[in-house]
Amino acid sequence: MQFTERVFCGRLAPQDVGRRVLLAGWVDAFRDHGGLLFLHLRDRSGIMQIVFSPEVASPEVCRQATALRAEYCIAAAGVVRQRLAGTENPNIETGSIEVFVTELEVLSESDALPFSVSDKAMVAGAPSAGSDAVAEDLRLQYRYLDIRRPAMRDNLVARHRIFQCVREFLDSRGFVEVETPMLTASTPEGARDYLVPSRVHPGNFYALPQSPQLFKQLLMIGGLERYFQLARCFRDEDLRPNRQPEFTQLDIEASFIDEEFLFELIEELTVRMFAIGGIELARPFVRMTYAEAMDTTGSDRPDLRFGLRFVDVTDVFAETRYAIFRQILQRGGCIKGINIQGQSEKLSKNVLQNEYAREIAPSFGAKGMTWMRAEGGKLESNIVQFFSEKELEELQRRFAVADGDVLILIADPSYAVVTSALGQLRLHLAGRLGLIAENSFYPVWITEFPLFEPTDEGGVTSSHHPFTAPDREDFDPKNIEELLSLKSRAYDLVMNGEELGGGSIRINNRDLQRRIFAALGLSEEETRERFGFFLRAFDFGAPPHGGLALGMDRTVSMILQTPSIREVIAFPKNRSAACPLTGAPSTVKREQLAELGLLDLGGKEALPGTAEKEDPIDYLSWVSRIGISAAERPVMEEILAGAAALARLAEENAGPEEPIYTVAAVSNRMRPGTKEQRSEFAANGRFLKSAPAVKGDYFKVASILE
Ligand code: AMO
Repeated sequence: MQFTERVFCGRLAPQDVGRRVLLAGWVDAFRDHGGLLFLHLRDRSGIMQIVFSPEVASPEVCRQATALRAEYCIAAAGVVRQRLAGTENPNIETGSIEVFVTELEVLSESDALPFSVSDKAMVAGAPSAGSDAVAEDLRLQYRYLDIRRPAMRDNLVARHRIFQCVREFLDSRGFVEVETPMLTASTPEGARDYLVPSRVHPGNFYALPQSPQLFKQLLMIGGLERYFQLARCFRDEDLRPNRQPEFTQLDIEASFIDEEFLFELIEELTVRMFAIGGIELARPFVRMTYAEAMDTTGSDRPDLRFGLRFVDVTDVFAETRYAIFRQILQRGGCIKGINIQGQSEKLSKNVLQNEYAREIAPSFGAKGMTWMRAEGGKLESNIVQFFSEKELEELQRRFAVADGDVLILIADPSYAVVTSALGQLRLHLAGRLGLIAENSFYPVWITEFPLFEPTDEGGVTSSHHPFTAPDREDFDPKNIEELLSLKSRAYDLVMNGEELGGGSIRINNRDLQRRIFAALGLSEEETRERFGFFLRAFDFGAPPHGGLALGMDRTVSMILQTPSIREVIAFPKNRSAACPLTGAPSTVKREQLAELGLLDLGGKEALPGTAEKEDPIDYLSWVSRIGISAAERPVMEEILAGAAALARLAEENAGPEEPIYTVAAVSNRMRPGTKEQRSEFAANGRFLKSAPAVKGDYFKVASILE
């Protein structure tokens, strides 16, 4: 058979009836009607029903066809025919025609499959197999089979379309695509680096880029003016949904621009990318300052698809007789609330008190929750009697209360606790009450972030990265309070509660950059050592510049509305940063380590803090990857000594059986005959004492949503 004549299954249409065609692809599904064999042939373009009939095909071809199995790779030639009335299949695009085969060649056989690839039923109306029931690790282990599934194939094709759209659009705006190095020095983006040992320079390491940040700024100093890259980035950070150790950014940088240039550019690009998924976004995108986002939603990546915005009512209770609020306000606290409009039927007193106030709000970190329901023009709850008429009236006015509404208030001495707990309640309630309309997309720019965040050591760290321009330059790098009051010229693009991208206008003044490093507590020497090459470039006429990076996996996943970013990445890592297909990361041969000069490092003694005679504090610092300063050492020593004493005490008092620390009764299945038991602590309640919420024998923890 000549592949030059091959046509795609999905391209055939009723006007091809009577045409002789050669098809090639995989056996998707088959149905034997005693002598007449129907088969779905699948290629990248779609599915075509092919028929083996003894009236048309030779006995040899018919015999060969009966041996076909799912996912055999075959080529088949035959004539296109109209299907008989009543046998059309609306499940497939080519469902009104079929090909009667005269020639068949098995190109490659397939083993029995680990999971079904086919997702199209052969008979109209019959249920089709989906991938939902297949364990994700199995899908990733056989990713090449998973990619044969039309849903995965469509995701990858759509990703390609979106990437093409990016390239075309940015090219039309004068941006140049430049590749920056993968083997490089560390870039500060807040995660750990993936390191690559150098064979040529034993004991030295490259870092894989956390982002091309430094290089794109150097390209601006290089006079390129407008740069972009669909850049692979690597970050060794804690796993979370929608994070991959290796991911793709659309990285952009431009010179002689300001925030408005980038907002316009990215909005237009985002609108075009979402249009590929049939999603229309309205421009201009809403803008919100960081402070406003925190004040009204408790999050710097607010989900604006629904209301439930916070209202601050701290001042309403300035003179309150309600002791709990009074004490909180005396400690400088605040009170915020949300009005859940018209939902009192779904939020009964029982649900509000026993579920939300007792369990859910505490699991989000609130010490308590106050609720009120509006009925007959009045607010009702178990505590309204403690509020004055004036306070109740003011609450009604502030929240624009109508009958059927439910108010929830959180009060706490800490602003962070109030906003965080109420923010989580806001999302929980929106999910539970179905307040989020399907297919709704709400982009928002978050601006005016704080430039710095406080560190536990009493210093500051960059909220974004140290190259972000502050909103003013006349600050004292030693004055921590002043540093914490600075705002940055950074911006994040947030959609539906997810951070799609972020960037900033950069510092292009070398002295300002040095003062920022000084504010971060880096000495001149450290700065020179880590960023000397970068700072040197600022000595040669650095233009004003700024940029942004969009997380493309997240963006594509949002456009295609997939449950995870892994669905839009061809070969992603699983939830534990491993690849079930290749087995990476894996051990390597000793010879490889030797060649790289790593054998010494492979020994335990060579790792800082792990040798036996070394200080336990160094060890703790090394295993936890947390630096412990000289000032903290005495405290840590005391804590460690206390822990060791406790461990000794437990050992001395231990009974004959091994202790088990379980909340529910368990038995040791490795030792037949052992009695079921539970921890004594659990039985007397001490084990659960500090748990945020307890139900029966169990701790309740916040669910992880993906
Ligand atoms: P930032 O660190 O905010 O900025 O990253 C930009 C965007 O990249 C995506 N992203 C990720 N996606 C998947 N998995 C991850 N582990 C991951 N980490 C980040 C997010 C994020 O918004 N150099 C700056 C950009 C700049 O200032 O121009 C940077 O990298 O969608």
